[in-house]
Amino acid sequence: YILGLDIGTSAVKALLMDQEGKIAAENSEEYPLFTPNPGWAEQNPIDWWQATQKVIKTLLIENKIDKNKIKAVSFSGQMHSSVFLDQQNKVIRKAILWSDTRTSAECKEIYQKVGGVEKLAKLVSNPALEGFTAPKILWLKNNEPENYQKLAKVLLPKDYIRFMLTGEMGMDISDAAGTLLCDIKSGKWSQEIIDLLELKRDILPPLLKSITVVGKVSQMAAELTGLAITTKVIAGGADNACGAVGSGIIKPGRVMASLGSSGVVVAQTDQPEADPAGRIHLFNHAVPESYYMMGVMLAAGMSFKWLKESLFADQLDYDSLNQKAAAVPAGSEGLIFLPYLYGERTPHADADARGVFFGISGKHQQGHFIRSVMEGVTFGLRDSLELISERGIEFEEIRLIGGGSQSKLWQQITADIFGYPISLLNIEQGPAFGAAIIAGVGAGIFVDFASIVEKLVKVVNIIEPIPENVVYYNEKYSIYRKLYQDLKLRFK
Ligand code: XUL
Repeated sequence: YILGLDIGTSAVKALLMDQEGKIAAENSEEYPLFTPNPGWAEQNPIDWWQATQKVIKTLLIENKIDKNKIKAVSFSGQMHSSVFLDQQNKVIRKAILWSDTRTSAECKEIYQKVGGVEKLAKLVSNPALEGFTAPKILWLKNNEPENYQKLAKVLLPKDYIRFMLTGEMGMDISDAAGTLLCDIKSGKWSQEIIDLLELKRDILPPLLKSITVVGKVSQMAAELTGLAITTKVIAGGADNACGAVGSGIIKPGRVMASLGSSGVVVAQTDQPEADPAGRIHLFNHAVPESYYMMGVMLAAGMSFKWLKESLFADQLDYDSLNQKAAAVPAGSEGLIFLPYLYGERTPHADADARGVFFGISGKHQQGHFIRSVMEGVTFGLRDSLELISERGIEFEEIRLIGGGSQSKLWQQITADIFGYPISLLNIEQGPAFGAAIIAGVGAGIFVDFASIVEKLVKVVNIIEPIPENVVYYNEKYSIYRKLYQDLKLRFK
């Protein structure tokens, strides 16, 4: 067996795979999220570690798995969230999460110190966004100097769990890419940016490849988790990189669009050419010598959930919502939704952006509102797709995943708004599945990524766009784009 662990934002998920790639068991364990101030999001790394111990122990006991049969373990984790450790490797304060937006002043400070967006993109291939790690370290320095004084190492969530399991300190390159301190092209820490930001020089751990064998489970961790000390521990990757592995986004031309709580568009590329304007992310993949471009929408499925629970007071289930929306023509008879309920990352990098229903008229019924939310979210995904395409990346296949992809109507809307056929997959497993594949490749159980991924992940259905809807949605899309520009000064 091989074990994949995903240190997510709401829970740790464990997935046990056999050596053919079949899923043998799954389990998850939740932990709390703290919001001490509006816009803040924190978690206690000790909670992750305790939940990880429990999730592994229960998985082994409930499925009667012999610990000696688990050959390797690897990790996926929420990106960017900072774990601050002191000289004794003790947690200094709660981790500040990727979804925390307290660091707007530090993002400005970064642009100021580095000399603007283009210079930053040149150094680290990405923009300064509130969620990324470097602004969080600066925030600690600016706001909690006594904690910064104690700071000896910064880790990301899954790197902390790997450290607790092995005693070995390190960060894999796919996650390091999201710190804003890493030179994506060379795969090394950027000393230049660390110096420009006047950060302590030795707070970053050694960089690892995702498939590097880091060591074995320590005696103490073996007692706490129930794992054997012979199990190999493999570095692992960022959750989006692991998710991409698990959806087969491992070769040029393949794109994944995800309608999860947040919306994500990921395109694999062999060319690490960043957007000089920093509108789209460029990160190292978990697959060695490979990269991916990514756009992230903050509220995709979340917009739909808000519609269901708040706007419709939970009086309609998902089927009824879909039926009502399907009865309305493409374009929702002029109603347009901007999905910026919590601000937006791609393409606007604007924490102050807000949601909008535009063009409401007396003829609009519930179905129009439902459909326009689906359409607005999909326009948002198209924004990321356009930016990726502008970078010269050619698409051969767009794979749709995430909760929203269960809806036949949303599948068709996506094909029509993208103007491109949409591929649906045989399995849909989250990042823990990708982490298990990384464990298998790292431990030499699978020959390479391509052979195991192509064997396990297959396209089972292709949704073709309807030509007249494509034309119609193209017009709507320009109005959608213009609306944000026209309203942006009013959002604040
Ligand atoms: C990616 C990002 C999120 C987290 C979720 O840049 O911030 O997708 O990785 O865990």
